[in-house]
Amino acid sequence: MDKVSSFLRKSSSFGSMISAKNEIYLPVTTKPQSKKFRLRQILGHCLYRRVVIWTLVLILLLSLTLFNPRLTTKTRQDVMDLMQLGKGQLREAQAGKGEEIVLQTQDGAVPEEKKENAEEQKEEEEEPEDDGQNGPHWMRYKHMDGYYKGLRAIVPFVEYTPEYPAPTGSKLTIPVSAPHHTKLPTPTPYNPHPDYDSSEYKSEYHKVQPCYLDAARKTPVPDVYAYSGVPQGQAKPAMGSYDLLGLREDVCFDRFGRYGAYGLGYTTKEGGTGEALDTDHEGNEAVWQKHGKINWENMDWAAAQERCFVANENRFYTGNSTQDAEYAKLRPKRIDRTAIVIRTYVGFKWTAHALLNFRAMISELNLQSGGEYDVHFLLHVRDNNMPIWADPQTAQDILDENVPREFHGICTLWSEAQMNLYYPGDFGDAFDNPSNGDIHGVYRSAHMPLQHFAQMHPEYAHFWNWEMDMRWTGSYYELFDRLGKWGAKQSRQGMWERASKYYIPALHGDWNNFTKIVERETQASGRRSIMGPVIFAGKNNLQQGEGGFMPKSCATGSDMTQCGVGEDADLITLNPLFDTNESGWVFASDVTGYDKQYPIPPRRCAIVTASRLSRRLLSAMHEETWRMHHGMFSEMFPPSMAFHHGLKAVYAPHPVYVDRAWPAEEIEKHFNGGRDHTSGGHGSPFDLQNEHNHKGTSWYYNSEFAGLLWRRWLGYAQMDGRGKNGGRSGEGDLRGGREEEADPNNSGRLCLRSMLVHPIKWENPSERDN
Ligand SMILES: *[C@@H]1O[C@H](CO)[C@@H](O)[C@H](O)[C@H]1NC(C)=O
Ligand SMILES: *[C@@H]1O[C@H](CO)[C@@H](O)[C@H](O)[C@H]1NC(C)=O
Ligand SMILES: *[C@@H]1O[C@H](CO)[C@@H](O)[C@H](O)[C@H]1NC(C)=O
Ligand SMILES: *[C@@H]1O[C@H](CO)[C@@H](O)[C@H](O)[C@H]1NC(C)=O
Repeated sequence: MDKVSSFLRKSSSFGSMISAKNEIYLPVTTKPQSKKFRLRQILGHCLYRRVVIWTLVLILLLSLTLFNPRLTTKTRQDVMDLMQLGKGQLREAQAGKGEEIVLQTQDGAVPEEKKENAEEQKEEEEEPEDDGQNGPHWMRYKHMDGYYKGLRAIVPFVEYTPEYPAPTGSKLTIPVSAPHHTKLPTPTPYNPHPDYDSSEYKSEYHKVQPCYLDAARKTPVPDVYAYSGVPQGQAKPAMGSYDLLGLREDVCFDRFGRYGAYGLGYTTKEGGTGEALDTDHEGNEAVWQKHGKINWENMDWAAAQERCFVANENRFYTGNSTQDAEYAKLRPKRIDRTAIVIRTYVGFKWTAHALLNFRAMISELNLQSGGEYDVHFLLHVRDNNMPIWADPQTAQDILDENVPREFHGICTLWSEAQMNLYYPGDFGDAFDNPSNGDIHGVYRSAHMPLQHFAQMHPEYAHFWNWEMDMRWTGSYYELFDRLGKWGAKQSRQGMWERASKYYIPALHGDWNNFTKIVERETQASGRRSIMGPVIFAGKNNLQQGEGGFMPKSCATGSDMTQCGVGEDADLITLNPLFDTNESGWVFASDVTGYDKQYPIPPRRCAIVTASRLSRRLLSAMHEETWRMHHGMFSEMFPPSMAFHHGLKAVYAPHPVYVDRAWPAEEIEKHFNGGRDHTSGGHGSPFDLQNEHNHKGTSWYYNSEFAGLLWRRWLGYAQMDGRGKNGGRSGEGDLRGGREEEADPNNSGRLCLRSMLVHPIKWENPSERDN
């Protein structure tokens, strides 16, 4: 590993190693993150205190049990499970304030020994099927193997047979034999953007000016590369669908196709990151054939985004309503702009992989789309005493120390003190405040700085709230564009009911089938389908009046199946919008500012704050905050505001994978196990007691599978999660990595279809050491 990248990870060895070259990388500052408990910090916090006490009790119980020979294995297992549960709770606390607490409970340390067996041989030695007596129920389901099949096993999509899902009722996977190509397939550039040069596009929209990395317009934006086909046998997603959302499922991406353009796989001397040089890289030259290896050394993303926008300014609405009303009458059509707003904070440990991820995001979303999207960072400055507006030097120093230089121009600094000033007055009492946090604090009100950001940026119609520890294996444009288009196509009829339920294609059939199932279940529940603003005791109306958000297509007398079709969604979430009432979700009653002589207002929530919010939703939230002094816990406020005021909200069922072959009925039972077969109310999967079910999924804040799969895809050996105690927390064998991938008897480096993974807390294993 070269000096620069090791410098990235070992901030303590800063000083002498820095050179002009290093500056583009990382700000460094941060105290080395330790795995120590910061005891006082934790005990000073109500939720943490509970968690710590809970953990201590568990440890006590555990040691009593393990060292008592008279107890049966069964009991021991139960205690283990209890232990797991305790950890889940700890992570809940971590997820919210993950930045502050550095207790590591993720996958255990990676042992030294190497695995020699070739994968095919190994994979047949699946652990014996558990008899179902011990441990959580998912331990009974077989681990899937196809995720770890690589480039040598790719087949054209028409020949692809997934190992999962198996026919309904079976808990087994389908055995599929994969081919073994001796010569690696070749990837080709992948372009999910509209064909801007086509006559169809040009007849409807304004001409798109191509954008470049540099001001001289000499360096075109490099391409993402994909392989045609999918490794034979690889599982299909258990929840969500490609086809439904308009995402391609007939191609897969390896790490070089995805990130080679942005500096993966070549040295810092050549302007790359120096990452993945120590992983298998046979045949990866293809990804640099067209554009060469870009030297990213002096990249300035703010300038590049701005140039791209200016060159294409006449394509877009402006945010000035008088002006836009005029433009709306003209042809060709103008389009809306969207901001991706990424929440970051002082002390975030930037790594080379984080650089790759955000370079990809800006290139694909802004530069390759002619400026349709902009990417911004909202940088949380924790120290309320910092004069970040009064003194430009203070702001610059904070940027220098906390953000790589290439992103400086797209950072907006904010602090909780600013939110106090911006949203003054008395917010009153909460129905419940389990975290004991301040209403202006980021933990309970992460939406406040986004509301302010939207007020400051009238040029954007939509805002994606995004986080640092999320990754997408495909092209970002495809993800965000298709979700937006799918959201617009959805009808408002039955919308909230569909959104409350995970979509399991193997069980529910296609989207029409699913829609019918939900209608039947709604009727059986005896509840009325929600349409338009909801009414409840103590409700206050917005200044613009209630009902003002319903489109013409919903007027009385119209065909209600068409109500809202063609209307952009005000809220797009990536997990179901569930009813928090009686759900067992810890923050279900963290509701502030409502008249407590009335019952608690009805609420909706989607876990994981990643979501797209419209300007009008953010404006409604803004008014509720400044004028009515209403607040709710971060994940609950945007959905509840959309719910109260009749805005259009959808849960986009993006592809979510599971590490084990859950029968579809079991997924339904555990993920839609809440009231009336939804994910909300009593029995919700978001109940603290049930959240362990998400650990084997690719998208949830407590997922273990997401990180394991992602790192293995990056080329690093990872524990395979196959162990007697459920395989969590670093159990199993070390698999993957250079030796295994490069063995010509194995199938090569991983190739995955586009998928979202979260949480990714570290990538190169050396990042864990400091
Ligand atoms: C909005 O556009 C109108 C018409 O072009 C213009 O007169 C007005 O000054 C603009 N308003 C703002 C706030 O820029
Ligand atoms: C889905 O609907 C179609 C047509 O209505 C029907 O033939 C099919 O059996 C349904 N599938 C499921 C899984 O319900
Ligand atoms: C919450 O559930 C309880 C018990 O079913 C019910 O009485 C109450 O009305 C519900 N509240 C809301 C806001 O849905
Ligand atoms: C690959 O498999 C063949 C046949 O089983 C064996 O002879 C050879 O040694 C293996 N190669 C490696 C690198 O393990």
